[in-house]
Amino acid sequence: MTATATATPTTTPRTASDRIGRLSTASVRKVLEPEELFDWSSLGAGQVIGDELLTTRGLDLDLDAETKARLSREEVAAMLEMGIRFEAVLNSGFALQIAECRDVSDPRVTYMLHEIAEETRHQRAFIRLVEELAPRAKNPLARGVFDRIATFNIRRFIKMPAFLMVLVLAGEEIPDLLQKLASEHPDTDPLLRDVNRYHRQEESRHLSFARTTLPELYGRAGRLQRLRVRYFAPLIIGGLFATFVHPGVYASVGLPGFKTWRAVNRSAERVAVRHCATRNILKALLDAGIFKRGRIPRGWRKLCGVDRHGEPLPGDVALPGDVDVAAA
Ligand SMILES: [Fe+2]
Ligand SMILES: [Fe+2]
Repeated sequence: MTATATATPTTTPRTASDRIGRLSTASVRKVLEPEELFDWSSLGAGQVIGDELLTTRGLDLDLDAETKARLSREEVAAMLEMGIRFEAVLNSGFALQIAECRDVSDPRVTYMLHEIAEETRHQRAFIRLVEELAPRAKNPLARGVFDRIATFNIRRFIKMPAFLMVLVLAGEEIPDLLQKLASEHPDTDPLLRDVNRYHRQEESRHLSFARTTLPELYGRAGRLQRLRVRYFAPLIIGGLFATFVHPGVYASVGLPGFKTWRAVNRSAERVAVRHCATRNILKALLDAGIFKRGRIPRGWRKLCGVDRHGEPLPGDVALPGDVDVAAA
């Protein structure tokens, strides 16, 4: 990151700096230590999210209560593990930008330090929850060719600030919707509900920082990085969404792993969640002036289920728990 302010499509540098300064002030006032906030031993022993929130919702499977309880714990643990790793990637990218910045007094640097601190607290909270959930699933995608490709790409992405920020938006918007669905559902375990609320509260500032800085980062990005945002990002984000719950989760409860995983990701119920979760990322890109209505790239249209103007295509099934899509 350079500290030299650059002209941006929608936000003047001064306004962006002021807004970021206010985010830092809010972070100082709300330092929340998860170890002090939560009683980890209070997590219930059985099903931690309702039937409606299981990713298998659209598959018409006849699962007994014990299997559903196990599946719920494995699914939540898999998502938390993904969150821990994703936040580590974000922290790496931000740390690199701080190391290479020209002016350490830029308010963006201070805010990134706040965000890194908050993410490390989230990671500690998620680790404690994973310990309590005691998952047994092994991720078959965390080895072999897939793992090598993922590692290679992550090490490249953290060096591309604009592209990384689009992925940060995805890594924050997608869990935000999933955690909103869980925190508002009556069948969610009370501890999990409270951790979700705590996380969403802090992530709202991170989303604000991402939306504020994306225009200036994109303004400084080279042609190749811009092409990646346009054509490569929707593929990566689609993959990110599909692997939040990996095939090993289904195998761990006696279902055919890859077959169930593919069926889940093709189900109308899961596709509707993906559309809803990713439309806010696209909205940020439109607001930043990166895409124009009427000329949204095909990959983004497919990812978000929208037309070339960004309007939702008809046909999505309702989200679980009667959550208002427009408000989500
Ligand atoms: Fe977080
Ligand atoms: Fe975050």
